[in-house]
Amino acid sequence: MNPAPHIPVLLTEVLESYSPLKSRTDLVYFDGTFGRGGHFRAIGKQYSLKKAFIADQDLEAIATARKDWSDWIESKRLEIFHGSFLEFAEKNQNPLDMILLDLGVSSPQLDQAERGFSFNKDGPLDMRMNQTARKSAADLINELNHDELMDIFKIFGEVPNPYHVVKAIIQDRGEKPFITTLQLAGLIERVDGWQKKGFHPATQYFMALRLVVNQELEVLQQAVPLLIQQLRDGGLISIITFHSLEDRIVKNLFKDSEYGFLVNKKVIVPTEEECRMNVRARSAKLRIFQKGQKPEKPDKFALRRAQRAKE
Ligand SMILES: C[S@@+](CC[C@H](N)C(=O)[O-])C[C@H]1O[C@@H](n2cnc3c(N)ncnc32)[C@H](O)[C@@H]1O
Repeated sequence: MNPAPHIPVLLTEVLESYSPLKSRTDLVYFDGTFGRGGHFRAIGKQYSLKKAFIADQDLEAIATARKDWSDWIESKRLEIFHGSFLEFAEKNQNPLDMILLDLGVSSPQLDQAERGFSFNKDGPLDMRMNQTARKSAADLINELNHDELMDIFKIFGEVPNPYHVVKAIIQDRGEKPFITTLQLAGLIERVDGWQKKGFHPATQYFMALRLVVNQELEVLQQAVPLLIQQLRDGGLISIITFHSLEDRIVKNLFKDSEYGFLVNKKVIVPTEEECRMNVRARSAKLRIFQKGQKPEKPDKFALRRAQRAKE
């Protein structure tokens, strides 16, 4: 069965985020999380992209890009990079106008049991977005010591007390190493039980492992400042996050950067309608940063003051 297609999240808002560049015809775009190219396709329709660069660390995403965009590749309008957007940023020499990072996993990654991201589907306990990376989630579960596992679940999963789960993991792996997703999900269910209806007890544990296996927070923290530097004056970077720790990193990097300003003071979230149509959108947050000087707010009273000074 073919996996469900990926529905691009916050699409209208992402398209709108680049609107200051609408009249330009020489735009250079970088999509650091190509996925299945949903955002890229829509952006390509609405903006005059002279050149685009796309990256993804997933081999299947890259294969899709090569197949779907062969005409752009042939005409040298598109360059494809297999690897993380941090690796791209470390090598890139091209000034950019528009950047999009739509973090996390795509629906095809979640839906394919063999990728090991889902606690509902039996598959290898893998979770590597980049299939050529070294350590899988099973390696972490089987190799890390008690304190390291506690830290991962507490810090990255925000699990208040993972003690009993960690103790059970260490006990069980002494008899048989962890190989499958359901082996781990079953243990967590057994130890923690269901505490919130509709919220699988393994949710936060799986999220924590995924973030660590793919070094998602470190990559984000290091890549964003580099990407901001590579923006041309007036260029925009839009980032969609799905996790509170990711959002905090993005917010602080944007707020503290001396190279530009946060476009939207308040974070942008999906409408209720979007959340109803696409459950994946529920935790999405969009922040936008523009390179350059913040435009002065029009001073409504300046004219009046000038008139009074004349009188
Ligand atoms: C949420 S999906 C993007 C979906 C895409 N915007 C679309 O509309 O089809 C995230 C994708 O980014 C990739 N990814 C996540 N973190 C990455 C990173 N640090 N570097 C490169 N690709 C990454 C994942 O492999 C996945 O394919």
